[in-house]
Formats: sequence, C-alpha cells, structure tokens
Amino acid sequence: MTPPTPLIAGNWKMNGTGPALVEARAIADAADVAGVRLALCPPATLVERMSREAAGSRLEIGGQDCHADASGAFTGDVSAEMLREAGARLVILGHSERRAGYGETDALITAKALAALRAGLEPIICVGETRAEREEGRALAVVTRQIRGSLPAELAGKPFTVAYEPVWAIGTGLTPTLEDIAEVHHAIRATLKDMFGEAGAAPAILYGGSVKPGNAAEILALPEVGGALVGGASLKAADFLAIVAGAPKA
Ligand code: PGA
Repeated sequence: MTPPTPLIAGNWKMNGTGPALVEARAIADAADVAGVRLALCPPATLVERMSREAAGSRLEIGGQDCHADASGAFTGDVSAEMLREAGARLVILGHSERRAGYGETDALITAKALAALRAGLEPIICVGETRAEREEGRALAVVTRQIRGSLPAELAGKPFTVAYEPVWAIGTGLTPTLEDIAEVHHAIRATLKDMFGEAGAAPAILYGGSVKPGNAAEILALPEVGGALVGGASLKAADFLAIVAGAPKA
C-alpha cells in the first residue's frame, strides 16, 4: 500500500475574525505544493468565508468539532452536515482541549466520528497523554487505549487521519524527544493495523504540539509521522508555509 499523502493541518482554535482571512488567502495562493495536503480549521464562524477564499486552490477547510446528531435541540452546537454545507471537508475530533475542557469521552468521539462519516467529512481524531501519564510511563497505554476507544469500526477503508498530540506539548513550546514521537507513532500504526487490517496502513498519523518552523522538518522526517496538526504557528501564513516547506512530499 502506498504511504499516506502528508497532511499539514492548521487548528486556529478560538482565534480569527474577518481580517484574519488574509492569512488563509496567502496560504491558499501558495497551496499548490505537490505531494502534500494543506488544511486550515478555523472557528465555525469562518468556515464558509474561508472555504470561499480557498475555492479553486488545494487548501482544504475543516471544522474543529461537531455534534454527533445532524440537527436538534443542542444550543450552541454545530453538526457535521452544517460544516459540510459551509464548505468543510475535514473535522478535528477529540482534541485534548475538548476532552479536558468539555468532558468528551472516547465514546462521544466515536459517535462524532460516525457523524463525520455520515456527512462526508474526513475526521482528524486526536489522542495524547498528559504530563503525569508520560511521567508514570503510561503514554503508550493511554494513547493506544484512546485509539481503540475513539475510532469506530466503520472507519475501515474510509479516509480518516489520526493526530498524536501530547497534552503537555500543546501551546507550551515543549515537544517530546524525536525517539518518543517515533515510538508513539509506531504504536499507533500497529494499533490501526490490528483494528483495521491492511486498511490500517492508509491513514496519515499527524504529530501536534508546539510544531513550528524551527522543529517541523526533523519531526516530519520521522517514520510514521505523516504530517502535523499546527496550532499557534498556523495563524500566520509565513510560519505555516515554512512548516509546509519542511515537510517530506509523497
Ligand atoms: P500548538 O497547538 O501548535 O499551538 O501547540 C497544537 C494543537 O492544539 O493542535
């Protein structure tokens, strides 16, 4: 099976209003890079406008979360179908800020992944250990348990992506050693193959957590690292494009 095409995805989190679209436009204009996929996941309020900015370019747009249901009495929520209609093609699910801040469980993330499939969105499902879990030597156990718990069997053969984001590396400037990143990515790949058979070789496994132009190339060159989920450094086109430039191309 051919290795997955690397994906560099930006997660804008709760950042960005209309004027920030100029950054997305600059990324869209530079997105015609062979052998690598580029994506931006803005706040829900910008998905439609950013999709219009990206129209005709290779920049893909995603949401940052979705509800498991298509519609209903869920004040404040956005469904996968709504994101899709607004132009999204991807959706981040199970980010640690949602697992920790909103009590999202593996079971809920599974339901959201099914919603993404129903709506034709490619889920980017996030996993990662806390600092305490790493210090206790439980990183691999936690991450593989999250993979088994958060990925429905229905994903077999469908386009989806996994992102390994150690909680303690997000927004802190800290990153695991290259050896530790490689070890976790190998464990994730082995788990995906165990769950999905040969189809488990297809999904890209992204690394996320304090990826920036200065460290991206060495992380992205590791075996089984199929791209990056970039937070802070995705807000400026120059930084994001510098990370893309350092990515190996398929
Ligand atoms: P960061 O965030 O790059 O700002 O550390 C990554 C993420 O939360 O996806």
